[in-house]
Amino acid sequence: MSAESIYYPSQEVLDYATVKEYENTYKFSIENPEEFWAEQAKQLEWYEPYEKVLDSSDAPFYRWFVGGKTNIIHNAIDRHLKTSTRNKIAFVWEGENGDVKVYSYHALNREVSIFANILKSMGVKRGDVVTIYMPQIPEQIFAMLATAKIGAIHSVVYAGFSHEALGERIKAAKSKVVITADGGFRKGKIVNLKSVVNTALEDNPYTQVVITVKRTGHEVEMISGRDYWFHDLKSLPIASIKCPTEVMSATDPLFLLYTSGSTGKPKGLVHTHGGYSVYTSTTARMVLDIKPEDRFWTAADPGWITGHSYIVYGTLLIGATTFLYEGAPNHPYPNRWWQMIEKFGITILYTSPTAIRGLMRFGESWVKRHDISSLRLLGTVGEPINPEAWKWYYEVVGNKKCPIIDTWWQTETGGHMITPLPIFPLKPGSATKPFFGIKVGVVDDEGNEVHPNEQGNLVIKSPWPGMACCVHEDRQRWIDTYWKRFEKFGWYHPGDAAKIDEDGYVWIIGRSDDVIKVSGYRLGTAEIESALVSHPGVAEAAAIALPHDLKGNAIHTYVILKKDFTITPDLENELKDHVANAMGPIARPESITFVDILPKTRSGKIMRRVLKARALNLDVGDISTLEE
Ligand code: WTA
Repeated sequence: MSAESIYYPSQEVLDYATVKEYENTYKFSIENPEEFWAEQAKQLEWYEPYEKVLDSSDAPFYRWFVGGKTNIIHNAIDRHLKTSTRNKIAFVWEGENGDVKVYSYHALNREVSIFANILKSMGVKRGDVVTIYMPQIPEQIFAMLATAKIGAIHSVVYAGFSHEALGERIKAAKSKVVITADGGFRKGKIVNLKSVVNTALEDNPYTQVVITVKRTGHEVEMISGRDYWFHDLKSLPIASIKCPTEVMSATDPLFLLYTSGSTGKPKGLVHTHGGYSVYTSTTARMVLDIKPEDRFWTAADPGWITGHSYIVYGTLLIGATTFLYEGAPNHPYPNRWWQMIEKFGITILYTSPTAIRGLMRFGESWVKRHDISSLRLLGTVGEPINPEAWKWYYEVVGNKKCPIIDTWWQTETGGHMITPLPIFPLKPGSATKPFFGIKVGVVDDEGNEVHPNEQGNLVIKSPWPGMACCVHEDRQRWIDTYWKRFEKFGWYHPGDAAKIDEDGYVWIIGRSDDVIKVSGYRLGTAEIESALVSHPGVAEAAAIALPHDLKGNAIHTYVILKKDFTITPDLENELKDHVANAMGPIARPESITFVDILPKTRSGKIMRRVLKARALNLDVGDISTLEE
């Protein structure tokens, strides 16, 4: 190994890790992917065995475990009820206000079954989409699991999204039922989600029922004939604690998750019962090394893929204990996380580099107040981690004994793709090597492998079970977005730039397309620009990402005003608010620069690359296609 600082796992970590060996297993998994995945599929129960591990006849619409019958709920809950796991804690929750709830697998099954019966009584059928717009409370997870249990499809919308963004997603999914809460707590304040839902539904032909969970108890507007309180429904005889789990085909959709891309509106990625179950349980077991005795905390919102795959499904599939926290990391004080880790004996923490940088800012004394020695493994996800944050996480939080598992993956991939296993020597900032069965490359624009340490396009060269099956009701978009770029090779193109060093370690550099990662949240420049242009004063707009110490990236925008508008600080703030209202507070631009002209190609495409280079005082590169 060549790099300056390499962190080797201790003997204790090596002895405890589930996976003891990488190279040979990796080689085997690449040469015999179907055999490898069939082996992993054996860890799960199937109502009926599959006939074929992988059907590539309609590529890139790959179908996994074809002919198999299953339901992710059978493996995440039902099968545990037949063993002593029934009595074990499935789920611990702490509210920001200090409320705590604890559910055994038996109790989880009861709550999910009640919710499932309520959904059925509201007319939800197999294949219907249920939209979930909720704070991080137990019912958010019950709602997801209940939807899956009856064969319907959940579409969780992150509760930080605005009414416009929510309305768009509800309509796109033609969701008949929406589940929300009267609010949630964040930094001691109530976030009023119900009023966002009410506005989002103002011109919506699809939604007939809104189920509202009482969390905060403050007054909300309920519309008669459409809106029901969850606790009222729960007291009806229909809300029985017995509900059969619907038998699904392995290839049936489990959920939709909307995510941003380079162009146009967010797209709904579709994940299926079979492939997703196999992939999330395998990666939870091998990468995050979750064992039944673990208390695992993914400090992310269930509304994002990280929450879906590892707060909810991966952990429950293993039969471990998952932890959920409702509120802000620094409320009431910056020791909140460490206090909860100590109190509940959390063994694995998985979060974003932005969260780590945020907590690092408060200093290590907040951490040192608590005995967090229960931690044995630390994970990160969502954006590249800078070595300073990596080292702080390793030294201060992990006390130099926990491996840092830097996992690269995407909404589209369902689970981890490039990641260390606990047994790996680590280089801070590198996501290390491809997971079993994942064939990666870093290539130039023609598809030629670049030299070691040279930057190029990251590509995935073969299918894997966790991959989305498609984009909701848009076949062409699945092809165009991910498979067109390297069509002749049949490679998946994730849109990230990367390099591979001489030891075969992968370093993710960042997005190479028009997606921006702000604090680990994924946003599209096109969405930000269209939000700006929807303001009456804006003629044209461009958005770019520039490095930011805390958030990884910040949004910087350039605006051409219409003739009758003049530049004022008020207008600047108004435009920032306008974007935040249209998309959600995470999309509020850091800066707005008023300009007379934007760099464009002759065909009218904004050259964001030129704006970025200029802002960073870098060479603007080849601008021969520039219009003026
Ligand atoms: C980025 C999140 C560097 C990447 C699970 C990817 C990362 C996008 C890492 C997907 C990592 C995720 N190191 N970058 N460990 N993990 N990314 O869909 O740009 O919200 O394409 O999924 O996050 O974001 P998404």
